[in-house]
Amino acid sequence: MNINRKKLLLVMLVISCLGCFCFTAGDKAFSINKKLGRGINLGNALEAPKEGQWGITLRKEYLELIKQAGFDSIRVPIRWSAHAEKNAPYTIDPNFFERVDWVIDNSLSNSLYVIINMHHYEEIFNDPNSHAERFIELWKQIAEQYKNQPDSVLFEFLNEPHNMLDDDKWNKLSAETLKEVRKTNPDRIVLIGPGSWNNLGKLDKLQLPADDDNIIVTIHYYEPFQFTHQGASWIGEQTESWLGTKWTGTDGQKTAVIKDFEKACRWGKEHNKPVNLGEFGANSKADMDSRARWTSFVARQAEMQGFSWHYWEFCAYFGVYDKDNHKWRQPLLKALISDSNEQPD
Ligand code: GLC
Repeated sequence: MNINRKKLLLVMLVISCLGCFCFTAGDKAFSINKKLGRGINLGNALEAPKEGQWGITLRKEYLELIKQAGFDSIRVPIRWSAHAEKNAPYTIDPNFFERVDWVIDNSLSNSLYVIINMHHYEEIFNDPNSHAERFIELWKQIAEQYKNQPDSVLFEFLNEPHNMLDDDKWNKLSAETLKEVRKTNPDRIVLIGPGSWNNLGKLDKLQLPADDDNIIVTIHYYEPFQFTHQGASWIGEQTESWLGTKWTGTDGQKTAVIKDFEKACRWGKEHNKPVNLGEFGANSKADMDSRARWTSFVARQAEMQGFSWHYWEFCAYFGVYDKDNHKWRQPLLKALISDSNEQPD
């Protein structure tokens, strides 16, 4: 081989490595988003002020049931802020950490991917300036605790930023948090969602650090709200007057969902970010036919756009599982797990 051919080969090798590098940048986030696939929120347990206070205490069998039913992952809402010191160094209660360790261990032993989030940090929504430091310090401890976990453990910085934690403040806070988390977890996948309750309409305001590929963007979907939140007492009295609202799947209703999801998909493509639908669901006060119809339509549309998803939630008000009678609510389970594009009548 003469010297010029050797040089040519070397140049080709470098180019192919560079090409490979370019094409693999961000691939991990996309491939893990596929693995998240279809999931469930373990709602109303660890994000209650104290586990059990909202009627749900997590059990080993829940993780087994979720896996056996065909789900790929779980999202665990957690109220860390209620289990840590109010003042610096804001130490998280070791017993509470043990409880979250238990959830992670049981998820992994059932081959479920698991998202650890921060939920209901109410104080930061009312007074972000006073709580930013504590928020970051909490995440530093969580990141340290789970730095040796496999890639199947993911972090989600904050459920539904809203109120005084506006878009600008949230962009700044999430970037600062990411910088700290990256010191111990250089390439763990982190989920970050837009402001105003992870509203997909706010994606345009979301700014993510340009140099970090290991991010999945997460959005929530509860539209039409008067249907999904009819009789939802925690929202307010007005929800009583929404009782009886149906979702029949008219062309107009379907088009609204499709348009919203297309918007989120477009944003993901433009920013080269995978999209997760971290919450969607309809309250049990709605009629079951409408719930199943809406759930099936939303889940299939999300899949068509390449989103992973997490139904809200396992066994409380929106529950797909009836914990008192130890059985799945079949119309909802079928709506979630069915591979068919058929909609229930
Ligand atoms: C949000 C709230 C949660 C509520 C759900 C449905 O995730 O944080 O508490 O149950 O939306 O309203």
